[in-house]
Amino acid sequence: MSSFGKNIKVNIFGESHGVAIGVVIEGLKPGFPLDMEKIQAMLDRRRPGQGRYVTRRNEGDIPEILSGVYEGKTTGMPLCAIIRNNDAQSKDYKNLRIIPRPGHSDYTAHIKYNGFNDIRGGGAFSGRLTAPLVFAGAIAKDLLSRQGIKIVSHLKSIGPVTDGDLNEIKYEKEQEEAILANMLPMIDPNETAAALNALNTARMDLDSLGSTIATVVYNVPAGIGNPGYESLESVISAICFSVPGVKGIDFGKGFKLASLKGSEANDSFYYDGDKVKTRTNNMGGILGGISNGMPIIFNVCMKPTSSISKKQESINLKTQESEELVIKGRHDPCIGIRAVPVMEACAALAILDHISED
Ligand SMILES: Cc1cc2nc3c(=O)[nH]c(=O)nc-3n(C[C@H](O)[C@H](O)[C@H](O)COP(=O)(O)O)c2cc1C
Repeated sequence: MSSFGKNIKVNIFGESHGVAIGVVIEGLKPGFPLDMEKIQAMLDRRRPGQGRYVTRRNEGDIPEILSGVYEGKTTGMPLCAIIRNNDAQSKDYKNLRIIPRPGHSDYTAHIKYNGFNDIRGGGAFSGRLTAPLVFAGAIAKDLLSRQGIKIVSHLKSIGPVTDGDLNEIKYEKEQEEAILANMLPMIDPNETAAALNALNTARMDLDSLGSTIATVVYNVPAGIGNPGYESLESVISAICFSVPGVKGIDFGKGFKLASLKGSEANDSFYYDGDKVKTRTNNMGGILGGISNGMPIIFNVCMKPTSSISKKQESINLKTQESEELVIKGRHDPCIGIRAVPVMEACAALAILDHISED
């Protein structure tokens, strides 16, 4: 449902146009100093209302901590934080109760919750619920960085445009800095110009774009994870699939492995001093559900935003007749742009949960 994690339990709550959204985090050790600047910086990378390539809904996304922190440090008690919703325009969503958006959750939510679900802004299905996820992820990322673990995500593709690749073997500070300095979260500024063009064309066509987000987790020690149902892949996938709009995930070379031979795909082992490494990283740092000490690599596919301004075919659940739908309201032309820090949060929480195993 709305909670995940075994050792670090995260429970997310709220609705897009309700009073607030928030998170309760359990299992954090006492005495960890919360770096609010780092948390806010990560929230700001996801925040709406920043320019013409994301939704115009303008939210400050300032977290308010209600419990679990005293004098700037975790107390070891459940940490509860909320983020208030200040810029909701609920009238745009009224008709979606009876005319569901194609590609969105309106129809399935209506069936599952007998029409009692909060439809405004997508309610609990909204991408807005990823703000508290990023809050929790920012704390996890900071905790992991103190153990030398670095997490970097970028928009690997957007519509027809493909970005360069993150280093699969070792962390490169310059790559992370390039992504953070870029107008879109991409490594290659030349590709960014092409991506902005594609976004403009999609907007003029009253349409949206799909994307992929690549994430690499550097310096994870070998031996983290489990075989079977709690494999690293299973846990990372479960968290990523809780993010609305995610439709696929693969690890390392992923689905491309299907067209390789064993001799091409296998990552050869060697000793670098007393450290075991692999020459390539086609398996994305995971063997048998357990980390092998190489960077963990995964890619998610984000579907194109379903709320588009183009006229679409839908149904009227009251009259049981066909109905044309033109969606109003403010929407992201490409979900992936704001979901990049969300993927870093998913990775951080999955790894922290595993590392915190007794
Ligand atoms: C950061 C973020 C922003 C999103 N913004 C929008 C949006 O503006 N409009 C929209 O229709 N969907 C948006 N979504 C996706 C929907 O929430 C999602 O497609 C919907 O809830 C149905 O869930 P599903 O796509 O996982 O099936 C966003 C998702 C994320 C992660």
